[in-house]
Amino acid sequence: MTTTPVSPSPISPSLIATLPGHYYTDPEIFRQEQESLFESMWFCAVRSGDLARPGAFRTVQVGRESVLITRSRTGELRAFLNICRHRGARLCTEESGEVRRTLQCPYHAWTYDLDGKLVAAPNLIKMPDVDRVEYGLVKVALREWLGYAWVCLADEPPSFEETVMGAAVERLGNAAAIEHYGTEKLALGKRITYDVKANWKLIVENFMECYHCATIHPELVDVLPEFAEGYAAQYYVGHGAEFGEDIQGFTVDGSEGFGRLPDIADDQDRRYYAITVKPTVFINLVPDHVILHRMFPLAEDRTVVECDWLYAPEVVESGADVSKSVELFHRVNAQDFEACERTQPAMASRAYRNGGVLVPTEHHIGIFHEWLIQQLGGPSA
Ligand code: FES
Ligand SMILES: [Fe+2]
Repeated sequence: MTTTPVSPSPISPSLIATLPGHYYTDPEIFRQEQESLFESMWFCAVRSGDLARPGAFRTVQVGRESVLITRSRTGELRAFLNICRHRGARLCTEESGEVRRTLQCPYHAWTYDLDGKLVAAPNLIKMPDVDRVEYGLVKVALREWLGYAWVCLADEPPSFEETVMGAAVERLGNAAAIEHYGTEKLALGKRITYDVKANWKLIVENFMECYHCATIHPELVDVLPEFAEGYAAQYYVGHGAEFGEDIQGFTVDGSEGFGRLPDIADDQDRRYYAITVKPTVFINLVPDHVILHRMFPLAEDRTVVECDWLYAPEVVESGADVSKSVELFHRVNAQDFEACERTQPAMASRAYRNGGVLVPTEHHIGIFHEWLIQQLGGPSA
């Protein structure tokens, strides 16, 4: 039997439809996203510098799994499922910490080294047949890029070059452009964590468009006047939004920031670039710092966003006051997340059963929706 989909009333030619409301509220869709996106793609988990010393560890929620990341005795980062191989207790219950050499399960004391190998357990000596590598922690793929550890839970991870680095190439027009910022060498000047009561996709969509900039971001529009016209930097390939004529730096009042990062090109000076690395990362590039957002989607209506402001090491080491610089994007974040939280409850309304619409300056968000539906294996009823 063929069924004709119930389509909403015809849409005006200058508009395209968004996803229907239930994509933002349905726990089943969120479960599919965990499986098909967060547990299948490369997921930006931690900043490498947060695990500075051998023995440091962090635990991160990736989809439905807890992932343990350690810095080994020889200095490499490793990632494992945070599950004891004996009877499945969660191995590390803290978010972060530091051990000397080993991690011990709090249940029956199976003990693993920082490379995941089983090194001790009560009576292990009497079980010589137990292979210590085979019964070691389950490894998770890990790559470092831009000074962050990206993990992938898939048995066969997709190409990191295509799916992660490729996003920057696609946006900036070439592979070298992002490397000029030397992000992996920058130091953390400030981190703010936002607990946003909204679906992660509302946050992505918001980040991708600037139709809202003139309404809710007065400080940002002062610095980047072209944003008043509603075209986001992400609307174009290779376009950076230019600072206003009387603007000295990317700061809350347009006052001077810090020295230009050493390797950026002349045409990257006095410009702002924005990149979305699907599914959960936003990168903002300005001449004197980089702002990197990592999202942790925890439920269909809750997303934790960790935002790092990264500066040249000498800026951070000198104790320079970064507050005016941080304040600009902190305000942008607060303004954006408030808008997302205001939108989330409406996703369950009958008014949004068939979704909303995208105006021409937002049409590129439609590509994100098409991608999402494809990743989830087709439209949901
Ligand atoms: S569950 Fe970890 S030692 Fe038993
Ligand atoms: Fe915004």
